[in-house]
Amino acid sequence: METVKKVVDTASKAVSSLGETVMGSNSAPSGTLTKMTGCPVAHVKNSLTAGPHGPVVLQDAFLLEHLTQFTREKTPARNVHALGTGAYGTFTATHDISKYTSAKMFKVGTKTELFSRLSGIFTEQGEADTTRDPRGFALKFYTSEGNWDLLAINTPVFNVRDAKMGPDAVHSFKRDPRTGMWNPGQLWDFVVNHPESLHQVTMLYSNRGGCPMSFRTMHGYGCHTFSLINENKQRHWVKFHLIADLGAKGLTTKEAKLISGEEPNWLSRDLWTAIEKGDYPRWKFCIQVMPEDEGYKHSWAFDPTKVWKHSDYPLIEVGYIELNRNPTDFHSEVEQVCFSPATVIPGIGFSPDKLLQGRLLIYDDAQHHRLGTNFKQLEVNRPHGVEPKTMNVGGEMNFEVKNKFPHYSGSVWGGYKPDPKFTEPPFRTDGPVDYYDYPNEGTDDDYYSQIRDLWRVMIDEDRVELCYNIATSIEKIPTELADKVIQHYSKIDAKCGEGIQRVLQERKQGTKHKTEAEILVEKIQQTLGVQRPSQSF
Ligand code: HEM
Repeated sequence: METVKKVVDTASKAVSSLGETVMGSNSAPSGTLTKMTGCPVAHVKNSLTAGPHGPVVLQDAFLLEHLTQFTREKTPARNVHALGTGAYGTFTATHDISKYTSAKMFKVGTKTELFSRLSGIFTEQGEADTTRDPRGFALKFYTSEGNWDLLAINTPVFNVRDAKMGPDAVHSFKRDPRTGMWNPGQLWDFVVNHPESLHQVTMLYSNRGGCPMSFRTMHGYGCHTFSLINENKQRHWVKFHLIADLGAKGLTTKEAKLISGEEPNWLSRDLWTAIEKGDYPRWKFCIQVMPEDEGYKHSWAFDPTKVWKHSDYPLIEVGYIELNRNPTDFHSEVEQVCFSPATVIPGIGFSPDKLLQGRLLIYDDAQHHRLGTNFKQLEVNRPHGVEPKTMNVGGEMNFEVKNKFPHYSGSVWGGYKPDPKFTEPPFRTDGPVDYYDYPNEGTDDDYYSQIRDLWRVMIDEDRVELCYNIATSIEKIPTELADKVIQHYSKIDAKCGEGIQRVLQERKQGTKHKTEAEILVEKIQQTLGVQRPSQSF
């Protein structure tokens, strides 16, 4: 309870200090209000009417613009990662990795401007941002060779390893299509039928992975394996890591729930306030590197549900990132920023990871749907370090005004030309076209061994929390399904399975492990004579 108090105290301080900084503004715009066309507006409060009682006449052109702009203010929310915040910052290269990559942003001493969006994955706009959820940590580096997007999350692994399963995994974590309500039965149903997802789900039900105390106390992981390619066109496989200077810290479920009532924008506000006060958060930027040949022999080299052990592939420090400037226009910068793992620069490439390969398509596709054809021209999305020279013309909302002729390649008049020096070394393939399982798919080693390692390095306090978090989620699902979850966790470690069962029993028998809110809910349900709704699924 002491920690909860501390967290809430910090929350209250953040809220009151925010009052000082955000309620007023020293930089409000001034001058005569105009329409979008620049024409001055004479009246802002009263509509133009025929006589004092109306009706309103259509020739009040400002009224028409004001209303029709308003109804179009929202773009569709991201399907996942809808709730988030963002900030500008810099990447500074401190260590030489030219033996791995030719990318100029990694030349020691180089500083690169960046924009980062930090988000929940399944939390929706308007929800409290401390809800148990994995978190996104996307970075757009405006390098001198074009933009590089690194889409990191706060767990080093993902829950599926083939993009074909992506929509299914997302559906199972989202609201029940019948009721529009959250249904943990869906999530656990997916997990027990896709045990490769247990690794990330275990991290999600830990406090660090599911309820970060602050975006500033959250590590970031690129999860996938990418390529680093050097000047000699040699490829190494790489995983990217962002290690928070403040360390990774989580809230307990009880703390997170308490804070969500006090300050539903907890994570966003904490980051915003820290940056506003000049307390800029930093992350060490590190890589793990695997020789190219080794990757083809290593069963987990391209499997995003697995980590590469640090003892085998140590973290190599490359530089640091700092977030140091808040955006001025949430919609234009945070809502309209678009990231894609396909956005890379020379010296960084892809890997055969089947999840990554599918993701190379879906991000630009999502943004074409959400923002339209020319979203890459928006200020926050366009490259800042170099001028794009494309043959693209037209499309909705195209605001480039440029001579594009000839807008085809091969012309007597000239035009932009490709440069073969940027060709990547070829990718190997290793067999006929077919639908393949992952090398150890279906084995206990594949599903459980890395989670067992994780469980064994956890301190007792974290193990207790993990069992509590899983138990309080699966007690709301049908018993046969809950039993399957426990069976999986018992295979990971018998003590883990027992721990979950103990919490379940103790909660069933009395008020142990129950919050005041839960006890209140039970009382009200008894008064109303209702059964707990989730048990009916
Ligand atoms: C097949 C599995 C996946 C699917 C179907 C998926 C789908 C999506 C979609 C639809 C968006 C919203 C795009 C938009 O409208 O702007 C998104 C955003 C995002 N995804 Fe994924 N994703 C998957 C896997 C991953 C993985 C493995 C990672 C991390 C390594 C990741 C990291 C992110 C991040 C950080 C964002 C937020 C970007 C932002 O802040 O705008 N996703 N994803």
